[in-house]
Amino acid sequence: MLLSGFVVLLLVCGGAASAGAWFWAQFDRDTSGKVGFVNKVAIPPLAPSHVDAAGRRVFNLKATAGKHTFGKDTVSTWGFNGGYLGPTLRAERGEKVLINVTNGLNEDTTVHWHGMHLPAKMDGGPHQLVAPGKTWSPTWTVDQPAATLWYHPHPHGKTMQHVYRGLAGMFIIDDPKTSSADLPHRYGVDDIPLMVQDKQIADGKLDETARSLGVGILGGTIAVNGTVGPYLDVQTERVRLRLLNGNTARIYNFGFADGRKFTVVGSDGGLLPETYDTERLVLSPGERAEVVVTMQPGQRSVLRSYPGAAKLDILHSRFTGIDDTFDIIELRAAKTLTGSPQVPRKLVTVPRLDPKAATEKRKLVFGGEAINGRPMEMSRVDYTVEKGSTEIWTVTSEDLRPHNLHIHDVQFQVLTLDGKAPPPQLAGWKDTVFLPPRTTYELIMRFDDYADPDSPYMYHCHVLLHEDEGMMGQFVVVNPGQKSGVIAAPKGGGHSGSHN
Ligand code: C2O
Ligand code: CU
Ligand code: CU
Repeated sequence: MLLSGFVVLLLVCGGAASAGAWFWAQFDRDTSGKVGFVNKVAIPPLAPSHVDAAGRRVFNLKATAGKHTFGKDTVSTWGFNGGYLGPTLRAERGEKVLINVTNGLNEDTTVHWHGMHLPAKMDGGPHQLVAPGKTWSPTWTVDQPAATLWYHPHPHGKTMQHVYRGLAGMFIIDDPKTSSADLPHRYGVDDIPLMVQDKQIADGKLDETARSLGVGILGGTIAVNGTVGPYLDVQTERVRLRLLNGNTARIYNFGFADGRKFTVVGSDGGLLPETYDTERLVLSPGERAEVVVTMQPGQRSVLRSYPGAAKLDILHSRFTGIDDTFDIIELRAAKTLTGSPQVPRKLVTVPRLDPKAATEKRKLVFGGEAINGRPMEMSRVDYTVEKGSTEIWTVTSEDLRPHNLHIHDVQFQVLTLDGKAPPPQLAGWKDTVFLPPRTTYELIMRFDDYADPDSPYMYHCHVLLHEDEGMMGQFVVVNPGQKSGVIAAPKGGGHSGSHN
């Protein structure tokens, strides 16, 4: 890894001090105070749906090539039901959903429901390829707490490219029992989805080669829901932001430029048991957080990403974007604001999983381009898990680059972070955790409901270059006593014909 062309270039440049200094400075990105907030942030539309004769809520998503304008540049992109990104899907706990995913591209793709508890065959991982012109129609019953999930492609070796080109959207789950009526909840009014991404545009194209020290694409332009230089008009005293790090690589360390605190109310898999106030919040690729910001009439406040999301050595800090500063979006409060209820301290009960119930302990070590030294193999089952069982996974990184771990199918709880009780951000349900160098988590999870020895779920680093390079593994959930099946290489699936 350290002999990549990138580092060779760095060393060559280092030979000539001035060239080295130039190269070093090229990677110092700081847009604080330099972004003109001139574009109203786009709010992804809620996807239309209908309930079919079988009582299923039906959505249609079509991946297509299109165009999108980032600031002054109009470039070729991909999107769902449009040129860039996709609509927000929204369903209620207990509902059965059916999603017709049509591939309008000229290569295979998949659509994965990140954070969703569902049968492996419906998961949209690398085994559920949808061939060009075909439609894949997964269906499942939504059964998990109210949460901000998302969807994106997952074709093995191509996930970074497909997501970077624009295939991604949010999936909001509603559940009155695990929600709070006192939180802002009017979509697009005081409850705002914000998918934050960076882009690099060069020669009239999305630059897919933007270099870094082994984390893939790092762009220099921030787009929020696809909008560059975005502002959000705030009409209410409090606004809830559903933040999603939709990047392939960059890690954010969010805070407000005026130093204000904000209230964190939710993590990947739902609301937190207790809200807390903070000035900083780190999100690595794929992670979500729900926060509530309180504004005074007429105020303006810039959400920024600060350096220092993790302590890395100076080289990795610079060349993986950790020491960068970016202005993200400006919140603009109206002259008169509608009042909002106080944010409650206690939100929901998150039943704690009991470590004594764990029947299996697994150890995952991140390093090189692999987990436990084994690069992803599509026909290898790494773990066989019994349905209904509780497991503890200990996860460590021995690498110098930042990573994270995402596990499909389950929402887990953090037992410990470096041997200590987790910070409040990690006190609720999570499906993705940030894994800086020399960090160790103990995660606990239960594999309920769905067994299928022949269809694996994935666990992987959500830095998408790493995932594509093989920092991923597979597990199957089986009925007690059952063995895992034989996992065949995927073929382009889906069916032709009309939507139901
Ligand atoms: Cu967000 Cu396996 O993915
Ligand atoms: Cu996922
Ligand atoms: Cu990684």
